[in-house]
Amino acid sequence: HTETIYADSTGDLRAVGEKAADVLRSGQPVALPAETVYGLAADALNPEAVARVFEAKGRPAHDPLIVHIANRDQLRQVADVPEEIEDVLKQLRQEFWPGALTIVLPKTDAVPDSVTSGLPTVAVRMPADPVFRAVLKAFGGPLAAPSANRFGRISPTSAAAVEEELGGRIPLIIDGGASKEGVESTIIKIEHVPNATKPNFHILRPGPVTIEMLKPIGRCKLPGKNRSAEQIKVEAPGQLDAHYAPRTPLRLIEDPADFTPEEGKRYALLTLDGGKKSKMMDAADWEVIEILSPGAGKLPEAAVRFYHLLRKLDGMDVDEIIAEAVPTHGLGIALMDRMRRAAVGSGSAEG
Ligand code: TXA
Ligand code: MG
Repeated sequence: HTETIYADSTGDLRAVGEKAADVLRSGQPVALPAETVYGLAADALNPEAVARVFEAKGRPAHDPLIVHIANRDQLRQVADVPEEIEDVLKQLRQEFWPGALTIVLPKTDAVPDSVTSGLPTVAVRMPADPVFRAVLKAFGGPLAAPSANRFGRISPTSAAAVEEELGGRIPLIIDGGASKEGVESTIIKIEHVPNATKPNFHILRPGPVTIEMLKPIGRCKLPGKNRSAEQIKVEAPGQLDAHYAPRTPLRLIEDPADFTPEEGKRYALLTLDGGKKSKMMDAADWEVIEILSPGAGKLPEAAVRFYHLLRKLDGMDVDEIIAEAVPTHGLGIALMDRMRRAAVGSGSAEG
């Protein structure tokens, strides 16, 4: 049985935090809102609690978890920060924490190997969501939390989506409303470059903290560029797996000339603008069209609505979802990354 409790910033967050902390102390996982997507949190320092997260999600052991912290003491508890990156880390913390930036750092012995999939590094971030922070505060220790979906599936951006994914498999869901950012945190690894004015940031996963935002502090290197599959497996584990995938086949169309509808097939269109701005509007007799940014919000608005609309289209009776490419700047880089991965894993009946 899964219980859902409600939390909003006007309510009693302390009571919600205490209730979640009780469950977490008993070694059980709790689904909760982050500003990015909903997470499934567990005591990061308790291997049994961590094992339950992998089990509930059906996640393979080679895909490490992100550790969420509330303060600098907890950062020191989980990460051994090399002296040469101390200054850069401080800049990043001041600029982006609390927020949607995850930083990969050498781990301490306190972090169980199951959290990091045996890697010598740990991915750490300080979440901004007030509910997540209230839970961290009440619990008083770092929380490991992957996105609260079945492995490989569409990330949840609402409590209802978590219920669809994990209902009956976890004891507690905290409903804090829709996620504010809508896509998972940016993950970077810092590479100190001797004698250079700036370090290199290897972007292991693009997200809400964009390259444009990181550029003043470090030189950003995008994933995959000049890297073999073997290198990616080592440096960005989990990133090669199929992800964010609907059960309905999904195709990402970058050039409208690449798409010719097949007779008798029912298609859904997922597009940034719709209307005259979409090059795909007249490309088929669409069963349904969903517009990522119907307002003036553009890419940030599209990110907020992306997983929600993908989930909605996946629940409709169509043969294929056609996603139209979005501009590749700002949040568009994260959106294109998620669309590509969704396309790779789509169309399979199970995990
Ligand atoms: O926004 C988010 O980051 C959400 C919320 C809940 O905080 N969490 C999230 O976790 O997206 P998850 O499990 O879906 O993604 C974690 C990914 C792994 O798949 C892996 O690619 C990367 O983080 N990761 C974790 N530890 C790592 C490490 N030591 N080195 C490199 N990559 C790591
Ligand atoms: Mg995930």
